[in-house]
Amino acid sequence: MSYQALYRKWRPDEFDEVKGQEHIVRTLKNQIFAKRIGHAYLFCGTRGTGKTTVARLFAKTVNCDNPRNGSPCNECDSCRAINAQNSVNVIEVDAASNNGVDSIREIRDNVQYPPTQGKYKVYIIDEVHMLSPSAFPALLKTLEEPPEYVIFILATTESHRIPITIMSRCQRYDFHRISIDTISNRLTELMEREHIEAEERAIRYVAKAAEGSMRDALSLLDQCIAFHLGEKLLYEHVLEILGAVDMDVFSELYDTISCGDVSGMLNQVEKMVMEGRELRQMVKDFTWYLRNLLLVAEAPDIGDAMDVSKEQQKQLKNKIERELNKDSKEDLSLKLMRYIRICSDLSNRINFSSQKRIDVEIAFLKLCKPQMEGDSESLKLRIAELEERVNELAQNKGNAAAVNNEPANQDTSLEEQEEFLKQQREYLMSLEPQIWSDMKEVFLKLPLVRKRAIELGYKMCEAIMKAAKPNITKGGKCLVFVFDSGEHMIKYQQAILKEHIDILSQAFLEVCGRPVEFEIVEKHANEAVKATVQAKLIRTMIEEDLPEELK
Ligand SMILES: Nc1ncnc2c1ncn2[C@@H]1O[C@H](COP(=O)(O)OP(=O)(O)OP(=O)(O)O)[C@@H](O)[C@H]1O
Ligand SMILES: [Mg+2]
Ligand SMILES: [Zn+2]
Repeated sequence: MSYQALYRKWRPDEFDEVKGQEHIVRTLKNQIFAKRIGHAYLFCGTRGTGKTTVARLFAKTVNCDNPRNGSPCNECDSCRAINAQNSVNVIEVDAASNNGVDSIREIRDNVQYPPTQGKYKVYIIDEVHMLSPSAFPALLKTLEEPPEYVIFILATTESHRIPITIMSRCQRYDFHRISIDTISNRLTELMEREHIEAEERAIRYVAKAAEGSMRDALSLLDQCIAFHLGEKLLYEHVLEILGAVDMDVFSELYDTISCGDVSGMLNQVEKMVMEGRELRQMVKDFTWYLRNLLLVAEAPDIGDAMDVSKEQQKQLKNKIERELNKDSKEDLSLKLMRYIRICSDLSNRINFSSQKRIDVEIAFLKLCKPQMEGDSESLKLRIAELEERVNELAQNKGNAAAVNNEPANQDTSLEEQEEFLKQQREYLMSLEPQIWSDMKEVFLKLPLVRKRAIELGYKMCEAIMKAAKPNITKGGKCLVFVFDSGEHMIKYQQAILKEHIDILSQAFLEVCGRPVEFEIVEKHANEAVKATVQAKLIRTMIEEDLPEELK
């Protein structure tokens, strides 16, 4: 038999095997016992915590011929068909790849037919936040009055991206991150079933590294086992496999910072970003690295408290010895403490920051330049100044990149960027003259439209719609308002409320004297930048067209 990844092999097939989500399991089981089953559920929570698993279990149980203690029997025809993923009653849709309105319409048509066998038709829509804006209203219609025999289970890792209208029609369940203890216990249990011996500390380390995701824990464990196939799994092995890479990277980063090499440091940050390293995690790991250095400097025989392998302990010791040739022990410890303090501050702040990279660069800059820390007031000022300058720089860089269509850190060639601008210009120039002049009028009247909408009761119209970038599509027939979902998700969610769309249509009708077709969409990253570029281009072209006195 071909090898099956642990996390697939050990997907729980009864509710009792689902760990760390007791609050959810209990409620769902009670509903099954009491035969009070809802028709729309929303499962939210971090990746790998059991959403899909519980959704499938629930689907299986409600259709099972002889459920046992609220769990499916896994033996009847219905259970077997669902396990083999060929049941007609359980329909799984991945909204990430089927995100259009058509997929939802298909579901809507399909919903009308009762199940030929079994009691319920269960639709599991995974990653539901990925549905396109036009698909949400269609889904909403379906959720409003589903037939008796239909259950919807929507799953998402990003509940803030689900429109309130959808949310309010579902029973919501929040899947928690799973604790290190719970994950450790589960891993231990599975290692026994797999007949693989493992050190308890090894398991604990894996559980810790998984940060609350059972799936991550199982795939990390898989990697560790694969490296030492047929052997007992040792703590040393795990450290070697999961920790080794970072030691060298961090050691290098430490050297660069410690000798005050700012451009070297910036290059290293750049490299980490390019390698796709998650900056938050990087800062956390680097802080641990510094902490370990400090421990070794202060208490060379500390050993086990460090969560590093013997090999790595030796590396740390060598490093400290080299450092002690340059600095006194006291100075070194003070320096490390200062580093740790700044990095922990950074760690706390970075969770909420929308410009993680700049935060990292500034904090590391502080590390590079201890002389700046002499007098704390002047230092604060200088840092504030610097922060401002870096922000400015980043913005200019961002704008320059925006005009050329790509965000600053994307590695597209200048030609490609110019090409996009050229294409857009050609597209706009190719619109029929009548259509272009109609559109121009609509664009010029946008402020009036917003004002009218406010009068009609859409009080937040100005605040919301100003965040959108107006674009033109469909040969100039359609006006598209693009929201950057990274920055303006909440505004977008407000903008697509039906009552707001209705008012906006009315305002267009009144101000322009005719109905104007428009759409409201959200885009992320590159695509959002493209929308900004097109919006700017349109504005420039309109200004170019305008008679002198109107400019
Ligand atoms: N609470 C849990 N108890 C036991 N095993 C779990 C749990 N959560 C996840 N797992 C394991 O992780 C695997 C993946 O879980 P699942 O697909 O349910 O995660 P998910 O929450 O749907 O993640 P995603 O958001 O990435 O879709 C399961 O096959 C199972 O092996
Ligand atoms: Mg899932
Ligand atoms: Zn069954």
